[in-house]
Amino acid sequence: MNVLGINGVFHDPAAALIVDGVVVAAGEEERFSRRKHGKVPVPFSTWELPEAAAAWCLAHGGVDAAALDAVAYSYDPRLGRRPGDDITTDAWEGLRTLYVERAPLFLKTALPGLDPGRVTFVPHHVAHAASAYLAAPMPTSSVLVLDGRGERASHLAGRAVNGELKILASQELPHSLGLVYEEATAHLGFRRSSDEYKVMALASYGRPRFLPALRELVRATGDGGFTTAPIDWSRFAPAVARDETWGARHADLAASVQARLQEVMLDLARWLHEQTGDRDLTMAGGVALNCVANSWLAERGPFERIWVQPAAGDAGTALGAALYVAQRLGDPITPMTTAALGREWTDDALRAWLETAAVPFETPPDIAGAVADVLAANGVVAWFQGRSEYGPRALGHRSLLANPSHPDNLRRMNDIKGREPFRPVAPMVLVERAAEIFQGPLPSPYMLFTHRVRPRWRSRIPAVVHVDGTARVQTVDARDEPLVARMLSAFEARTGLPVVVNTSLNTAGRPMVDDPRDALECFGSAPVDALALGPYLVRRARRSAA
Ligand SMILES: [Fe+2]
Repeated sequence: MNVLGINGVFHDPAAALIVDGVVVAAGEEERFSRRKHGKVPVPFSTWELPEAAAAWCLAHGGVDAAALDAVAYSYDPRLGRRPGDDITTDAWEGLRTLYVERAPLFLKTALPGLDPGRVTFVPHHVAHAASAYLAAPMPTSSVLVLDGRGERASHLAGRAVNGELKILASQELPHSLGLVYEEATAHLGFRRSSDEYKVMALASYGRPRFLPALRELVRATGDGGFTTAPIDWSRFAPAVARDETWGARHADLAASVQARLQEVMLDLARWLHEQTGDRDLTMAGGVALNCVANSWLAERGPFERIWVQPAAGDAGTALGAALYVAQRLGDPITPMTTAALGREWTDDALRAWLETAAVPFETPPDIAGAVADVLAANGVVAWFQGRSEYGPRALGHRSLLANPSHPDNLRRMNDIKGREPFRPVAPMVLVERAAEIFQGPLPSPYMLFTHRVRPRWRSRIPAVVHVDGTARVQTVDARDEPLVARMLSAFEARTGLPVVVNTSLNTAGRPMVDDPRDALECFGSAPVDALALGPYLVRRARRSAA
């Protein structure tokens, strides 16, 4: 069966193609359109679909739109608010429902040959859930979905046994942990539905002194759900305007919101475990990208293992909806083994891009060793290899790499990327060396947990140690990522450190680099010392000012 998954309703529009139960391709529209998060999450934009991502998925899989057995759209308009006589009521929610109902016709326009009758709607949180329990390597798991909102809910708790989901609880809107976190994000001067991870980073600089008040406002209800009261954020700290900087009160507020989120997640996980007794928990939804909360849950929660789908945000619902429908059509589902599901280019095509750009390049005998040389000499490398990643994390395919032993490299990376100075950068490490250096859930191939850096290593890799002594680790297994593992081994051979700084390959406010042109533009505009484009190495020409 050929099943195309579509996320188009709120933000992060994306497409995924499943052929005979195997994930063949998945991509986010922002990587094609170069518009961060694809679109603004307002009802008026609901008609905008991941046209380029969907067309690419079909082309990559060699599947004609007419040959699709189903298209799975990750929102069910039958569960949404009905449009009334006045379309403007309820903040235009009815318009959203109307646009989703018409998505099959919009898709037919975007994908010529598609039979709109093959489009099927999957409830938003079922799609999130399926992106976890069907993609995970374990056949049976408890499932927790937490995000801003779906049709009428913001959460789902359930149990999946051999691919069959039983929903045990869900929380209706307006109560939403994701929306509480979004509101805090906006109050702290960041972009909602986008910059929540900045609040998580800022939290490390504060004390959770508003936690008692937030415990009154955000409560677990003991039945698998929770309530969130309207919050007057200015009673804790004044709102931060875009061009203002935050102070200690703001960091304390971030710490308080983060702490309350963690406490409620723990309550929800405990309730779920009481119902299921399962060993494993699978998670998705935007809140499941909160790696600090995930580690808190792994450490204190009742589950032995937690698996989080790497595209846990709304982009991942394209994958989840497609897996859900493929499974319903009778295909056995093959678990996901990598997030590298996006575009790639042949060596010849990459070479042609370099020749077109007329930049001098080398073809070293081993790109991994050549890059390790640059890193060991404290250069920063733009690393473009293989298929691009699905989800918000760079996992060694579209990465910016640096030497972790120089403390100043944190500032340098944040400068290159135009990021706030309080933001940490993350380490990648050979999986077999990880436990010696980091303490926390291992292996961690998708950077969805934070780890404590063991004390004797902190001074050896200062660039990747956050202010609270943690790091968000990506473990690299040579069986899954042979080239990245070779680069790490080569760096260790030169420096004694099996750790490299890894952050996403992009500059301020732009989506991650996806194609070779993006890579060349990024390299051309940022003070990066070398670009490793497939097997080719481009070095920055240094010229002193006249
Ligand atoms: Fe969602």
